[in-house]
Amino acid sequence: MARILLGVTGGIAAYKACTLVRLLVRAGHDVYPVVTAAAERFVTAETYFALARTSPSAGAYPHLERADLLVVAPLTANTLARLAHGLADDVLTEAALAHTGPVVAAPAMNVRMWEHPATQENAAVLRARGVVFVGPVEGDLAEGEVGVGRMAEPEAIAAAVEEILSREPEPSLLRGRRVVVSAGGTREPLDAVRFLGNRSSGRMGVALAEEARRRGAEVTLLAANLAVAPPVGIAVVDTPAAADLEREALARADADVIVMAAAVADYRPGEPLDAKRPKERAPWTLELEPTSDVLGALGAGRRPDQVLVGFAAEIGERGLERAREKRLAKSADLVVFNDVSRADIGFDASDNEVVVLSEAGERHVGKAPKREIAAAVLDEVERLLSER
Ligand code: CTP
Repeated sequence: MARILLGVTGGIAAYKACTLVRLLVRAGHDVYPVVTAAAERFVTAETYFALARTSPSAGAYPHLERADLLVVAPLTANTLARLAHGLADDVLTEAALAHTGPVVAAPAMNVRMWEHPATQENAAVLRARGVVFVGPVEGDLAEGEVGVGRMAEPEAIAAAVEEILSREPEPSLLRGRRVVVSAGGTREPLDAVRFLGNRSSGRMGVALAEEARRRGAEVTLLAANLAVAPPVGIAVVDTPAAADLEREALARADADVIVMAAAVADYRPGEPLDAKRPKERAPWTLELEPTSDVLGALGAGRRPDQVLVGFAAEIGERGLERAREKRLAKSADLVVFNDVSRADIGFDASDNEVVVLSEAGERHVGKAPKREIAAAVLDEVERLLSER
């Protein structure tokens, strides 16, 4: 059983939408009609609510509640254009903008309106976004013309709904796996108020944690001074300094997948002061001591069936070669290389462009939002899991 929002727009085929409601209800679905003012010139909203065995909900925004599917039948040329352009000037178009699931559209209009380049372009925009069109079909049209423009029969629309609802969500190999992601940049205290830090915002690591969660993994995020909000549904452990990150990562070294996206300090002040250091005229000379290489330690003690992912934030040409060396030196399965000398990607940017290196080869992922880069990296992780 699914919750289906049924949009009805103003055309003579609105009467056929009554049969569609019946069919969907008979199939066991929970149908909520959203009827435009123009549609009410043909059939009143009460009719659809009665057939759907429901009533206009008491809540202020029933159309904005989660629905499994949105069906618009009939869909006029006007509403088709509004959907293509993202207008939100009535309850139906607001609902369509807020809806994140699949959409089925059953256009109904005069043949010349359907064939007009404007309508065809709008339909192409919606198709490209994944909207499933059912019809229009050829037949007698309201104005006595014959041509393509009739709404598809309710049975055909209901069949398309069932087909979409029966599609299984893609099974992910990450479902139920324990995934640890480190994100952000560590800060190494100099005294009570000062630190040595780096420019990592944590966006890439957060995108990875979010995507792993979406794929059904049990995710722990080791958060080093994030400039962005951590995602919901994820266990967050604060790891402000390299030593915290080392401790928390090693405590979870048996995870199924570990992604070290954090920029971990390679050096820390040898003797941080407990108090605030007062200003003096003389120069302040610091001695920095090396931190432990967390990824290196994880790689040295790794489970062979685990997937270990590192990042290589490098500058320029030689970077890729260094990334290859890092993958081998740290016994990582994957190293994600990005060139941080470019301002449009990398640190604090919302986009990234990377090369994912593995034993099998190197995959270039073109400039894209970090969410998409995260998906490409996790596709590689899943490929490795499938081989284990
Ligand atoms: N890393 C780590 N612990 C450190 C330093 C780095 O776990 N102390 C991890 C990073 O999270 C990243 C990978 O190692 O996944 C590579 O980090 P990077 O700074 O590029 O390499 P380094 O090993 O620090 O080498 P270099 O600074 O010389 O480039």
